[in-house]
Amino acid sequence: MTTASASAGPARPIGIFDSGIGGLTVARAVAQRLPHERLVYFGDTAHLPYGEKSTAAIQAYAVKICDVLLRQHCKLILIACNSASAAAYELVREYVGSKAQVVGMIDPVAQHIGQHYAGRPVGLIGTKQTVSSNAYRKKIDQLDQGVELHALATPLLIPMIEEGFSEGRVSEEIIRAYLAHPALQGIDALLLACTHFPLIRPQIEAYYRGQVAVLDPSDVVAATVAEALAARQLLAVATAVAPLHHFYVSDFTRSFEESTRIFFGHEVQLEHYPLWE
Ligand code: DGL
Repeated sequence: MTTASASAGPARPIGIFDSGIGGLTVARAVAQRLPHERLVYFGDTAHLPYGEKSTAAIQAYAVKICDVLLRQHCKLILIACNSASAAAYELVREYVGSKAQVVGMIDPVAQHIGQHYAGRPVGLIGTKQTVSSNAYRKKIDQLDQGVELHALATPLLIPMIEEGFSEGRVSEEIIRAYLAHPALQGIDALLLACTHFPLIRPQIEAYYRGQVAVLDPSDVVAATVAEALAARQLLAVATAVAPLHHFYVSDFTRSFEESTRIFFGHEVQLEHYPLWE
């Protein structure tokens, strides 16, 4: 296997992975903040949804994906999936070692919440894996800022968004049913701890009518990526030509490709890259 050290530091791409194409919401934030960086995105569409998978299964997929991204000489690997960050962040860091930096969704967001919501109640919605792992709760508790986390798994929101039901009566009813749940009462802010949920942020904000801040982690995570690269002098040098990103998926369907539009802002071409051959 080729190692990451084969090409010059700053010119190496940023590797981003997710269970599918939802992580494109995070990739989009990274591309906006760091427009000169080349991105290599891997969506494990053959194994989604990670939110319903065991920790052991997600860890096995994550290691395989890291092999792919390291073969592409990625200088930093961003786990742009809350469920994968919950299940595999520590393992990925250990596995990748010094070959690349690793950033997950949870640490940057927990830090942000600790700084801005000390002593206050904060809600979280995410997949079953993210919520049952308690990964956010553990990180937030470690900060010892008195943040009281109220978490609720809201799995139905994911297929709802994928099927294009972000607006209208059906989605309003499902969103209302979840947000009215006793577990989420009395909160000052709600963390959107799933790659898909920024797409229904307006609907969630409309439900709360300004009473609860709605937190989209993508920008916080993109800022962390920028800081991590800057700290090691690994930021790409600006050029007149836009970087050529690559978007790989472990299982290709035309409908995944069409859905990239809703997650990335415009449709991108997906390349099929089977994880196990
Ligand atoms: N990307 C996942 C997350 O952020 C949601 C989709 C899935 O369950 O695979 O947790």
